[in-house]
Amino acid sequence: MSAQFSDTEFTLLKDALTVYEWALKTLMTKLQIIHEDLKNFQGGSPIEHFKGRIKTPDSIAKKLQKLNLEITAENAKQRLQDIAGTRIICQFSKDIYSLVETLKSMPDCEVILEKDYVTNPKPSGYRSYHLIMNVPVFYSGKTEKIPVEVQIRTEAMDFWATLEHKVRYKYNEYIPAHLSDELIICADKIAELDNRMYLIHDIISLINQ
Ligand code: GTP
Ligand code: MG
Repeated sequence: MSAQFSDTEFTLLKDALTVYEWALKTLMTKLQIIHEDLKNFQGGSPIEHFKGRIKTPDSIAKKLQKLNLEITAENAKQRLQDIAGTRIICQFSKDIYSLVETLKSMPDCEVILEKDYVTNPKPSGYRSYHLIMNVPVFYSGKTEKIPVEVQIRTEAMDFWATLEHKVRYKYNEYIPAHLSDELIICADKIAELDNRMYLIHDIISLINQ
């Protein structure tokens, strides 16, 4: 049977999720400001677009079960760092690194974990840059630091990850070898495409200078 929260724990979780909503809203507003400033006043933004989501109770329960933890609101808060998440799409791989530097320089949100799956792709072929950022939320007379997962990738990497996720879901995590091989080939081709497109962009920028 699939894991679920008890009624009591579900109520506690719902309340806890409100704070994650606030943290996500806070970070996304900050991202919007960074984006508008770079775009309108600094000659260009590496951000193409971004979106956010809060994990559903079902998927929180599933993840706790996978980690062999009791399905409680407290465990969700203590053990999961991706309850709130934002995904930022950049045009080019190089933009990912400049954006990471910008995010790390934010004085009020601390980067507590960093995973560079762009330089070191996962065995699946997955590429993205992941940060967990602690976002301060002031409410009820206190400041609480809430972790928000930030995934940064190119449009092409996003296209791949979305398709691979569908395949993974379809096969319940166990993707048949012929499909996973094909996905790895596609991921490599996509990385090559990203680089070649960047070269064209670079040449145009040089000409414009
Ligand atoms: P999760 O339990 O998947 O959250 O793994 P984790 O907590 O060890 O973190 P990790 O950095 O491996 O992955 C975090 C998130 O990145 C996942 O929830 C996915 O959204 C995404 N991700 C990681 N690996 C893959 C992959 O192979 N394929 C796809 N499509 N997405 C991935
Ligand atoms: Mg995750």
